[in-house]
This record gives sequence, C-alpha cells and structure tokens, in this order.
Amino acid sequence: MYIGVDLGTSGVKLLLTDDTGKVIKSVTRNYDLIIPKSSWAEQDPNLWYEQSLYALKELVIGYENQIEAIGFSGQMHGLVILNDEDEVLRPAILWNDQRTVDEVDYLNNEYGIEKLLEKTGNIALTGLTAPKILWVKKHEPEIFKQISKIMLPKDYLAYKLTGVFATDVSDVSGTLYYDVKNKKYSRDLLNIMGVAPSQLPEVFESYEKIGVLKREILKELKITKDVSVIIGGGDQAVGAVGVGIVEDGKASISLGTSGVIFVASDKFKIDTKSHFQSYCHTNGNYHIMSVMLNAAGALKWWSEKIFNQDDYSSFFEGVKDSDIHNDLFFLPYLSGERAPINDPNAQGVFLGLDLSHSKKDLDRAIVEGITFALKQSFEKIKKLDIDIPSVRITGGGAKSEIWAQMIADILDVEVYTMENEEGPALGAAILAMVGNGLYENVQEACKKIVKLANHYKQNIKNIKIFQKKYEKFVIIYPRVKTLFLNNNE
Ligand code: XUL
Repeated sequence: MYIGVDLGTSGVKLLLTDDTGKVIKSVTRNYDLIIPKSSWAEQDPNLWYEQSLYALKELVIGYENQIEAIGFSGQMHGLVILNDEDEVLRPAILWNDQRTVDEVDYLNNEYGIEKLLEKTGNIALTGLTAPKILWVKKHEPEIFKQISKIMLPKDYLAYKLTGVFATDVSDVSGTLYYDVKNKKYSRDLLNIMGVAPSQLPEVFESYEKIGVLKREILKELKITKDVSVIIGGGDQAVGAVGVGIVEDGKASISLGTSGVIFVASDKFKIDTKSHFQSYCHTNGNYHIMSVMLNAAGALKWWSEKIFNQDDYSSFFEGVKDSDIHNDLFFLPYLSGERAPINDPNAQGVFLGLDLSHSKKDLDRAIVEGITFALKQSFEKIKKLDIDIPSVRITGGGAKSEIWAQMIADILDVEVYTMENEEGPALGAAILAMVGNGLYENVQEACKKIVKLANHYKQNIKNIKIFQKKYEKFVIIYPRVKTLFLNNNE
C-alpha cells in the first residue's frame, strides 16, 4: 500500500491507497494561518510536523506492515529556515503572503525581467521564495545570519521523517533561485540573496526515492520494515498527476477559490508578456501554469457575502434561466489579479447594467466573466505552439454541469470531469508508486489509475455568441484600469 501526503495551507491530508490507486483510508488534520499583519501569512513548521505525524499514526492503524512507500505534495513557495541545530528560526512565510512588494520591485525592475527570465525562466511575484529571503535579510538580519538550511514546506516534512535534506524539481521551480530550463540552482540569484549552495537541499526528480523513514518514526508507527520515501512535488504539479495531466498538451483547469490552468509540456516554454509560471513537471518534463486569483472564490463572495446564501445550486439555476445574449459583463478581479494581467490593483467591475436585469443576469455575468478571464490565459498559452484538444476540470466548480458546458463553449475545447476528486494527495501516492518501482514512469501510472467521468462537447451556436462577447470583455479592463481606486492613491 502507498501513502500520499498533501501538506496544504488549511491542513494536511493523507491518503492510503492500494496498488491500483483505490483509496482505502483518508485522514485530515487542520491548522490555522498566523496573520501577524494584514496581507502577511505564516505557519509554524513544527505544527505541520506534529499534525502530519498524528495523522500518519491514525492512517496506518491496521495496515502497519503493508505500507511500501510514502510520497509528498505541498503548498509551494513557503520559506522554511533552520539553524545549525536544525531548529526552525522563524515561522514559515507562506505563498499567499504579500510583504515582499519592495523586493519584487527590485528584482523585476532593477535586476530586470529579461535577466530573470534568462536566469530562472520566471519573473518575480510576491508569493515566491527568493523575495522572501531578501526580505528576511533586510528586516531580520540577526535571523538571516543564523540560517543553515533553506527549504520548502513539504521538504521540511520529508527532512523530519527521513533526515535527508532534499527537494524536487517542480517545487524548487517556484523559488525563483532555480534555473528551470537547465535544472540547476541559479548562481546569479544565489549571489543576489547572499545564499551559498550548501544552505540548499539536493534536487531530485519528483518521482525519485530520497531514502526511508527514520527508525524512530517506524517505531512510533509500529512498522517493523523499511518504508521508502519519494520526494513528490509542489501541489499544482502533483495535483496534475492526480488527474493525469502528464503528457504534452494535456491540460487541466482547477476551479477552486483560485482558477489554475495547468498545461503539461515536453519542452520548456515561456511567455515573456503574460506572466505565466513555467516550471518543471513531476514527470521529468515541464509545465506552464496560469493562476487567476478568484474563480469559485468570486461565486462564494457573490452567494455568501452579497446574498447570505451558501447553496450554490440555485445560483447555477439562475445562470441557466438568464439570456445568453445579455451584454452584461463582470471583471472578476476581486483581490487584484495574477495572470494574465498581473495587476495587484485591479478591482471587480459590473458593466452594462440596465433596468431589465435581475439577479439571474448578474449570476450569469459572473460565471461568464470568470470563464472569459480563463480564456484570456488559455488563448495566450495556445500561442506558445501547444495543441490543447481538451481540458480536465477539477475542484468545487467542476461539480456544476452548467459551468462545465460553458467552459467548453467559451474556450472552444472539449471538457472532461474526473471520477476521483482526491486532489494532490492522490498524485503524491501515485508518485510514491512510481518511485518504488510499481510503474515504469508517471505517464504509465496515470494511464492505469486516473479515470474520467463526464464529457462535454462544444455547442457550435454558443461558441459564436460567446466569441462576440469575449471580444467585448477583453477591451473592458484596459479601458477601466486607470479608474481603479488603488491606482489613484
Ligand atoms: C502556486 C501557488 C499555490 C500554492 C498553494 O503557484 O501559489 O498553488 O502552492 O497551495
């Protein structure tokens, strides 16, 4: 049997699966965010370890000596720093922490975007790890001086469980001190940060075995044989394994709070203008990722905050009843936006309201607006010479048939939903199987394990209507952006 661990932001989720990926047992332990200041986000790595060990103990009861291997997925970009006694020096600074605006400004504008793209394949974003290290160096110099090891969240867990200081290509791609194309640390970025290679972990492919569980951990789990540990990867890339996005041109869209388009690519590709994230994949190749900050998050805001309703089904009924020809538009930038406009000051907008409109028309405008914003990224990714015949949709939003059909019609692509919605923990278990030799490679494992559910084909009539509306949608943001209140401060 295999264990997949997903060290997330709200909690850690563990799955126990058999050789076919069937889930036998699942345990989740939650923990809180620490918000020391508005827009900052931290967590205590010791708590990750405590909660994971607690969950692990519960998970293996009754299956102790049937466990072959364990693999990891983790929230990306978080900065974990240890001193030479292996003590955590400060709470981890997380992917959604926005404190590094000055450091990002320095990297993108003084060091320069062209150089960053050349050396790392990516531009600086506030969530990434390198700007966080620069922040600690400037604001906490006493702590910076004591740093002996720098690691990412899931790598801390793997280190505590094995004693091996390791990371993987997909997660380290999101640090901005890794040369993604050539798969090596970037000397230039290490120099800028004042970090030595000896402070950084050895980099493995995501499906590689890094060691075995420590003796004392085995004892606590009452296991009397060795258990292999496979390093795994960042949650987006491992989540993609869980839905079988591991071959060139395969794509998924996850409709969670944020909306993520994830495309697997055999070759390294970058788009210099649209601010996508170009990272290593967990199958030995690469991927491109476009993150919009509010997808299902915008629906939640509309239903819960505005209408005090937590039932989304009536929301989609409204969408169905309203007229597709309505020229009513919504920009979903409720907390700024990452890709493709990369504008932290962008705001939400309704445009085109008149007396004929009722709630259901606004419902429709919201779902269309989110989907048009996804299309904007999707079109730019396709221009990188990647053929994307279909997408697999996942996350809370994928439960709506109406939204699934709308994605097919707006993006003009075939859409599939997934039979299994276990998320990155399943991908982590699949990587554990590959690393332990059960499957030849990640592609073969996914073919055997991942199953599709429903299939939505494009409706030709709707494609035309939506194309016209999309052409209007894309001109709204450039025209209103100077009016956003944050820009006038
Ligand atoms: C990816 C990203 C998130 C985090 C949170 O760039 O920021 O997916 O990994 O889970």
